[in-house]
Amino acid sequence: MKVFITKAIPELGIRMIENAGHEVTVYPPDLELTQEKLIEACQKQDAVLLAAFGTIDRHFLEACKHLKVIALYSVGYDSVDIKAATELKIPVGNTPGVLSRATADIAFLLMMAVSRKAFYNYQKILDGNWKAFEPVEDLGLELYGKTLGIFGLGKIGFEMARLCQGAFNMKVIYHNRKSNEEYAGPLNAKYVSFDEMLAQSDVLSLHANLSESTKGLMDRNAFSKMKPNAIFINTARGAMHNEHDLKEALENGVIWGAGLDVTNPEPMDKDNPLLRMPNVCVLPHIGSATAETRNEMARLAANNIIAGLKGEHLPTIINSEVYE
Ligand code: 8YV
Repeated sequence: MKVFITKAIPELGIRMIENAGHEVTVYPPDLELTQEKLIEACQKQDAVLLAAFGTIDRHFLEACKHLKVIALYSVGYDSVDIKAATELKIPVGNTPGVLSRATADIAFLLMMAVSRKAFYNYQKILDGNWKAFEPVEDLGLELYGKTLGIFGLGKIGFEMARLCQGAFNMKVIYHNRKSNEEYAGPLNAKYVSFDEMLAQSDVLSLHANLSESTKGLMDRNAFSKMKPNAIFINTARGAMHNEHDLKEALENGVIWGAGLDVTNPEPMDKDNPLLRMPNVCVLPHIGSATAETRNEMARLAANNIIAGLKGEHLPTIINSEVYE
């Protein structure tokens, strides 16, 4: 059968699909893939593996309802209209679990980098502004014994909390739709209301899915409830914070700093003022970008394609209702 891949993924995944007897087409890296082009390409395909493609809406799904499987090369599935896929009986798979540690590492890295203004200080050297030792300039904040607030305590939030406890003996509080004892227990993490989390966190790190209820959640009102010395970290989805309100909160000292691996839109404009602020560190959505993790993501995505083409239950499926 035929499988279309929107962008080259690690060889391991491509080989797995080919070794299962399927024909793989990888879209050339130098060509822009619009939704219309993808719809056209998918007419001759049995499955599609979506690596960093934009939105998969009802229009796409209706035009491609013959697809036996859609495999996402990501754990997040906010880009796909899952309700429509389910109605159309198209199984959609993702890559959960394998990127939790790598993504938590980036949240931790950003927390540390922000706390010591690392990117700004590096830029200072590049700009030729490293002059003399200054006793009171560009001072950071220490993290020992501080309180970490996790919004969305799942696998990634758990790994971030473990790192923070191990390194800095941080106290962990969290807010989810409902308490999650499986992860909270080993962390001795306390379940608090959303407002309590905002008020008590020295570092607040987002690890929830993007949904209607989390979109734009971190706005002026939310920042105003945080501590003036708080650090805000987002490695989840850029649309969960309001960038204008975040910038304002940082400029007015409502919060102390921010570390972002995700922005809205992506890519962030190179002239965005956040990139020049001393207490801000931004990375270009590299949460899952380690060789090990990307290989494991390729393995899970390939397994979903192979199972879907056999008409079997996808090993990591989002909409298992399609089988009901
Ligand atoms: C992916 C991510 O690498 O898995 C996710 O949801 O955000 C990233 O780690 C990215 O979405 C590319 O597909």
